[in-house]
Amino acid sequence: MRLIFMGPPGAGKGTQAQVVADRFGIPAISTGDIFRANVTEGTELGVEAKRYMDAGEYVPDTVTNLMVRNRIDEEDAVKGFLLDGYPRTLAQVDELDGMINYTGHRLDAVVCLAVDADELVRRLFSRAQTEGRADDTEDVIRRRQELYLEQTQPLVEVYRKRGLLCEVDGIGEVDEVTKRILDALSNVQES
Ligand code: AP5
Ligand code: MG
Repeated sequence: MRLIFMGPPGAGKGTQAQVVADRFGIPAISTGDIFRANVTEGTELGVEAKRYMDAGEYVPDTVTNLMVRNRIDEEDAVKGFLLDGYPRTLAQVDELDGMINYTGHRLDAVVCLAVDADELVRRLFSRAQTEGRADDTEDVIRRRQELYLEQTQPLVEVYRKRGLLCEVDGIGEVDEVTKRILDALSNVQES
């Protein structure tokens, strides 16, 4: 399976990606998590990414695309992968198409989690108290939501036109949402 999880910041991409990827025996690849790991380790990539992440801006495509290309070339991703938070721009869609076509595969589905703005903010404020993620502050949360609408929301139509889109209601108990996703994916034919 080659899957993409989309949705605004706080929609539950990371929470659901882990469970669903385990179910399919594929790695969940979160660009945000990879960037944060690099920030923690103080790598060159981390130093570069932090400037953008702390402001809620997207890391430049050139940096992000290369990172994803390297990650999906790894052994554990040969049979498939679930991308959480990539692609986020139209240019990233093109890049990913190139990467997947090159291996002779295709995308199987794009899951988009729908959650209303009030609930998103509630979740991220609550996470700010427990985890203290640097980008979970009021201003930065607002910027992240804005950027999603501006740059990433248009991708929904791109994938809808390709017949790959599975829109899933992301509100409710975590298990309930997982069940909705698995139901939506049960109709998807693996490539
Ligand atoms: P990233 O880490 O991907 O952050 P994000 O998109 O802002 O999304 P979050 O991780 O905050 O939310 P989520 O949808 O994963 O929800 P979660 O499961 O955590 O990206 C961070 C930054 O990295 C970006 O801003 C950008 O700078 C950079 N970046 C990443 N990818 C990039 C790309 N492709 N291009 C350029 N830059 C990129 O859930 C949120 C909270 O809600 C949690 O506390 C969770 O426990 C809770 N929750 C989950 N599900 C439920 C539920 N059903 N009910 C109640 N609470 C729930
Ligand atoms: Mg996440």
